[in-house]
Amino acid sequence: MRILVVGGSGFLGTELVRRASAAGWTTAATYCSARPGSAPGVAWHRLDLRTDAQLGDLLVELEPDAIVNATSGLSDWAVTADGSVRVALAAARHGCRLVHVSSDAVFSGSRISYDESCLPDPVTPYGAAKAAAETAVRLLTPAAAVARTSLIIGEGGSAHERMVHELAAGTHDGVLFTDVVRCPVHVQDLAAALLELAVSDRAGMFHLTGPDALSRHELGVLIARRDGLDASRLPTGRGEGNAMALDVRLDSRTTQELLGTRLRGAREFLQVP
Ligand SMILES: NC(=O)c1ccc[n+]([C@@H]2O[C@H](COP(=O)([O-])OP(=O)(O)OC[C@H]3O[C@@H](n4cnc5c(N)ncnc54)[C@H](OP(=O)(O)O)[C@@H]3O)[C@@H](O)[C@H]2O)c1
Repeated sequence: MRILVVGGSGFLGTELVRRASAAGWTTAATYCSARPGSAPGVAWHRLDLRTDAQLGDLLVELEPDAIVNATSGLSDWAVTADGSVRVALAAARHGCRLVHVSSDAVFSGSRISYDESCLPDPVTPYGAAKAAAETAVRLLTPAAAVARTSLIIGEGGSAHERMVHELAAGTHDGVLFTDVVRCPVHVQDLAAALLELAVSDRAGMFHLTGPDALSRHELGVLIARRDGLDASRLPTGRGEGNAMALDVRLDSRTTQELLGTRLRGAREFLQVP
């Protein structure tokens, strides 16, 4: 299996690269701003999805069987929307399988629970760019898998976990919302599920989150307890009134039934050892 992880230097990308390489796959990965330290058996390539020039040449050189697009440009349309279209066009031209990572940010929260059949109704620029990317990927590469996910948590390395540590230490101004609810996923489960999709021929929309719905504050408390921090120091607030989606729960049950990889809930993977 030859795989190309686009955005391999990111939080999710790092785990995808690690797992693919450990499985003995021929693994290539891209970074944009800074080349990661050397990982045995991984071929790194610089790629900026804001330009049209590089990806086609890379696919001619690497001839990957599958591409996983794990890039994030947040609300930068040129990366998140246009860049994802570039990946989809290149995958279609070169006949590569594509797994595209999307987000629960495509939803407003007006109906709270969303399964794989729900259409996007974003309320943020980031959500709009992810929704545009989903639409392009579906139409340009109908055989692709589009995988929506939610807050990605690890063993301390995610932005969410770092923020909890900074809030508990009092080195970060901010609050953890009690009314903003998501269904987090562990980065190892997510990466395993994405690679399972990459080697399959499953097409369409997939939801990859754990089953537990938690507020940002509840999630912070679990992270603090796991890491031995004083959870009572975590400041709380309300997201209501901000330009954001409040309660968005991806329903992953249909996808979970198709997968061998089990997506654990946050209460399970954050339990105190
Ligand atoms: N993190 C979450 O909680 C969360 C929640 C829902 C959905 N998601 C989705 O999950 C995926 C992975 O998220 P993540 O948190 O792992 O992202 P991340 O850590 O921020 O990594 C982003 C990746 O995109 C690359 N990138 C940024 N700008 C680029 C450009 N112009 N051209 C090419 N590559 C570029 C980065 O490269 P450099 O670092 O080298 O610049 C990095 O490899 C994304 O699709 C995101 O939307 C994440």
